[in-house]
Amino acid sequence: MATASDLTRRALLASAGAMLALDAPAQESVGYSEPALRSLVTEPIGCCLNTSDLESANFISRFSYHFSQITPGWEMKMAPLLTDNWNFRWEPVDKLIAFAERNGMRVHGHTLVWYLQKPKPFIILDGSGKEFSNAYRLFITTVAKRYRKRVSSWDTLNEPILPDGSGLRPSLWSSNLGNDGHIVQAFDYVRDCDPNAVQFINEYDLEARPEKRLAFMRLVEKMLKLNVPIGGIGSQTHIKIDLPKGAMQSAIRDLSTFGLPIHISELDISFGRRWPDLRSLEKKRELQVHQIDEVLDAYMNLPEKQRYALTWWGFSDRDSWLRMPPMNVNGGESDEPLAFDEKGKPKKLFWKMARRLKA
Ligand code: GLA
Repeated sequence: MATASDLTRRALLASAGAMLALDAPAQESVGYSEPALRSLVTEPIGCCLNTSDLESANFISRFSYHFSQITPGWEMKMAPLLTDNWNFRWEPVDKLIAFAERNGMRVHGHTLVWYLQKPKPFIILDGSGKEFSNAYRLFITTVAKRYRKRVSSWDTLNEPILPDGSGLRPSLWSSNLGNDGHIVQAFDYVRDCDPNAVQFINEYDLEARPEKRLAFMRLVEKMLKLNVPIGGIGSQTHIKIDLPKGAMQSAIRDLSTFGLPIHISELDISFGRRWPDLRSLEKKRELQVHQIDEVLDAYMNLPEKQRYALTWWGFSDRDSWLRMPPMNVNGGESDEPLAFDEKGKPKKLFWKMARRLKA
């Protein structure tokens, strides 16, 4: 078994290797007046993507002009991937990966194990012991083998910590395979199938809730001591304009102490759901621009080898999950959490980011 420092080194090398592979042909100029985000930094700038997005030529053109990494937004999760009779719906994911490959983009796989996704074939095996663990292994190894070498990294485990940071989330996986067992097994199975894939633990609110961050870091520390091949830390970074000053910096600094690459994995900056919210739209947009500055300061202060990627959770405001049920309450329909507006045009948030990356 590799030691924790071997793993760290391996993860860094793998991430650097993947970056080199991104020496993709420069995107053709398609007449946009803004600079391409992907041209401003050496590490990937990513965005989540679904096959429905590929239907619009305008979308595809601007998306591939700016981004150098994709995360499948929905179609690679366990529930959409696995049918009731153990068939796999590969087609949408294959399409996304082919799109990424055609456009010189790296693919981040999302997500293998998540408490929220428990499809029927697993529910009917609940409590069956060996049968459940065989099915778990079969699912993870089938997916990891299929996308071996085409997916550079995985969110092997998504959202393992309770929202208030009081411990691990109970799940179908932990109750059948153990709190440690389901994590150790998942990471080991992926490593056995695709040793070069960088494996992440991905979590939200690590900046907004220091107590949750602590619980998360304790879990990572424990797993590294058990030689679990964790290769990176995913901080989703679904933040709000009210996030206190310095919170991003503290979070990224703490998370970086493992020496592993950090992925800002699902960035959006919401106006929040304060009610009533008497701040003007202009004020909210201004606060948003401050927040992107804080995110970028924290991220760009990392040593280059620890900057795995920065990924937006959506391209244009129109498509953000924060505008959809059940998130669209108290003015959620008019939230503007992303860098491009409803028409796909760059906003102030974009320009601040572009200037900061360039600097
Ligand atoms: C979490 C998940 C993502 C996505 C967002 C909301 O952060 O990790 O896959 O579902 O919620 O859309």
